[in-house]
Amino acid sequence: MDFRIAPSILSADFARLGEEVRNVVAAGADWIHFDVMDNHYVPNLTIGPLVCEAIRPHVQVPIDVHLMVEPVDALVPMFARAGANVITFHPEASRHVDRTLALIRDQGCKAGLVFNPATPLDWMDHVMDKLDLVLLMSVNPGFGGQAFIPEALAKLGRARAKIGAWTQATGRPILLEIDGGVKVDNIRAIAEAGADTFVAGSAIFGAKDYKATIDAMRRELHEAAAAIARRREAQRRELGGA
Ligand code: DX5
Ligand code: ZN
Repeated sequence: MDFRIAPSILSADFARLGEEVRNVVAAGADWIHFDVMDNHYVPNLTIGPLVCEAIRPHVQVPIDVHLMVEPVDALVPMFARAGANVITFHPEASRHVDRTLALIRDQGCKAGLVFNPATPLDWMDHVMDKLDLVLLMSVNPGFGGQAFIPEALAKLGRARAKIGAWTQATGRPILLEIDGGVKVDNIRAIAEAGADTFVAGSAIFGAKDYKATIDAMRRELHEAAAAIARRREAQRRELGGA
């Protein structure tokens, strides 16, 4: 199993952001998750392309830009120029979802849709060919440090099934990312429910030792991978025996 851990810099020390992203990558982060809030789509205000451009030279790993903004399109080329590798947005915030996804890819980035806890997964259905990843929110967007909403586990299962069917039919992968309330003590269940990419803000940047926290998460993910392999093997045997 191929898992990615994406620390959200929303919980980093913004006065020392360059050092923070270097440290978290040295501690084992696979991606940097970059939360963009506009005080319009969500009731909070954070960082834009200038800050993305400023941290870009400090790390080699992909920068995963999560746009919580409305409208979306004008910011896409700006973030692409600022060094973003992945750009995701909320479908409710774009007038033309298919067009925005195409725009992100045109700008040379991986494209994804973000689903709020109450947003139905149907938004995926007609744009599967334009998705590189799907991000499920396990909190309502706007703030770090909120509790994981358990319903997200069942939703992950449904998203995983849609993605699995698509990949089987086309051979094309789509990543499944989760964002909100991810901790060492729930990451295993979240992985077993279907996620492969894990955003964690307060759990990592709120910890004294980033490496110890990321290592602990990886140990949990290792257990999840073993459980998933056992489940697949049992299913295979059941089918074989039927
Ligand atoms: C919330 C953001 C998240 C947030 C996660 O709107 O999209 O990325 O930083 O923070 P934690 O991991 O603390 O829930
Ligand atoms: Zn986010």
